[in-house]
Parts: sequence; C-alpha cells; structure tokens
Amino acid sequence: MRPLRQLVDGALTSVCTMTTSPVIIGSERSEAGLALGMDILRRGGSALDAVEATIRKCEDNRDDVFLGTGGLPNAQGVVELDASIMVGSTRAFGAVGALQHYPNPISIARRVMEVLPQHCLLVGEGAALFAAEQGFETAELLTEYSRRRYYEGLQPTDRSLEGENTKAVDGDERYRLSALELVARLGPPEGMYGTVNVIALDQYGELVTGVSTSGYPWKYPGRVGDSSLPGCGNYADSRYGAAACTGRGELSMRVGGARSVVEGLKQGRSPVDACLAMLRDAATLPDPFRAELRTLCLTPDGRHAAASGQTTATYNVLTATSVGVETYPRTVDDVHR
Ligand code: GLY
Repeated sequence: MRPLRQLVDGALTSVCTMTTSPVIIGSERSEAGLALGMDILRRGGSALDAVEATIRKCEDNRDDVFLGTGGLPNAQGVVELDASIMVGSTRAFGAVGALQHYPNPISIARRVMEVLPQHCLLVGEGAALFAAEQGFETAELLTEYSRRRYYEGLQPTDRSLEGENTKAVDGDERYRLSALELVARLGPPEGMYGTVNVIALDQYGELVTGVSTSGYPWKYPGRVGDSSLPGCGNYADSRYGAAACTGRGELSMRVGGARSVVEGLKQGRSPVDACLAMLRDAATLPDPFRAELRTLCLTPDGRHAAASGQTTATYNVLTATSVGVETYPRTVDDVHR
C-alpha cells in the first residue's frame, strides 16, 4: 500500500491508498502514447505519471497536427498550445494556455499544479516565463507539413493574414473580421481531428485526466479553448469519475462539458448516458461555427464510455490484461443521426 504523497509546496497530488486494477483510456490518436502509460501503471506507477508520459508521446508525434510539435498554427501562423492535468482525489488542477515555443505543454501544466499551487492556469507570455524559469526547453513547433497546411488554408481574400508573425496592415478591426471569416469558412480538417484526451486509473484508485491541443487551426491569436479550463475540456473527481472533451471547445466551455459528464455520473447515470446527456445539452446551443464535440469518461471502478455525433469516431482503451490498444466505436448521439 502506497503512503499518502504530498507535494513540496503543499498541493496534494493524491490521497488514494486502495488497490484496484489499472486502466488507461484516450481519444483518437492517443494510441501514440497509450502503451507507455499502461507500462507505467503496470509497474505500480501513478496515474499522474502515466497521463503525462502518454500525452508527451502524443505531443512529440510529428504526424499529429492537433497538438505539440506539428500542431496547426493560429491565424498568424504561430503555434499556440493549450494543456491541462487534473487529479481526481484532490481536484488539483494545472494548466497552460496559448503557450508558444514549448513542445510539451502537458509537463508545464503539471509543473504549474505542483510548484505553483496558488494558481491553476497560466497563459501566453506568463506561461512561457514560468516554463523558462522551470528549465523547459523551447523548440520549433511548426513542421514543414503544418506550415504548408497553414498556407493552404489561407484563401486569396485573406491576404491580410498572409505571412507568419505578421500583423494585418489595415487595423485590428479588419484583421478581426478576416480572422473570423477564415475560421468560419474553414471546415474541420480531414480525418478524426482534435485534441488528445487521456484518463488513467492507477492501482491506488487515483484518477487523472490530461488534455493537450494546438486548438482550432487558424484560431484567433490568444484564443484559449476548453483544454485549459477545468470543468470544460477536463475534469476529474475520484468519487464519481473523470471526463474529457475533444472537438469544438467553445461548445464544451458553454456547457461545462467535462464537469457536466462527471455530474451525470454523480447522479447515477451510466458512463455512456452521462456522455450523451452532455452532448445533447451542447447540441441545443446556437453556434454558427458548430463543429464536432466528443467526450469520454472513466469511473473509479474502471468502467468507461465515449460518445460523439459522428459514426466513425473511436476511443482507445488499455487494461492491465490488454495485449494491445483496444479501439472501440464511440456511442453516437442519436440527435445527430
Ligand atoms: N477542444 C479543443 C479546442 O477547442 O481547442
């Protein structure tokens, strides 16, 4: 039995001592790191370490254009990353938003939680200052491919946005309008796009959720999405369960997506019904920029579910006895059928 672990600066990362069978689940494309997370759990490691390690692998996957290195940039061609991590037993939370130049925002989010427990979220320059103070290394986040995808997304009418790190020439209002038009016109990229979500249950009964993203491609500079916000993209409460969201973050922010799923579990809903109830609530909201919203959850006794409006959406699971990553279809919300 592991003793209580207390962080140096007073934030409790875990108050769990029971023994349970570990599980780790993740969104589409989490398979890049999920096996590493399960290795950590199988060796008796913590859900916190498993989630961080899994997401770091995904952030370092240059073929994934939705987070970390290779993540698609904002409307000015600059990669800005959002990430958060939450511990279910203490509801400790750490996050960064609109962070430039650092390839592994999930580790910086964890560091915020661990060494700056007086805060939960740092954004922009302040987040970068903290990362530098903590010794994290910067890197070039644009890859040749993401740079090309960025330029391909710009249409001739948006030349005011052309060029990396340049500002619109005719003033902020014109820039703002063209940025909004750009976001409205660009459909979601092909394939199962979006943020990576990972939730782990360790043998001590701890539940931890992690979320990492480059956010909506061509987003307005400085835009922070649900991935950095507790209760929106990410929420964990070891009494009931943990949930995370991917897809249109503004919808998740407006319904308090992840918290709403956990609230459903608290009220006695099954994992799948808790996910569907949140998606149905989001589906009632007017949203001219509507795009897919998906969610997944894991309970303290290892039950899991995921839901989506798209029939092709999937999620990944590894249990202590899995021989490889198991991929399941997400339950489709019938209001979308
Ligand atoms: N769900 C990720 C985002 O909207 O940025």
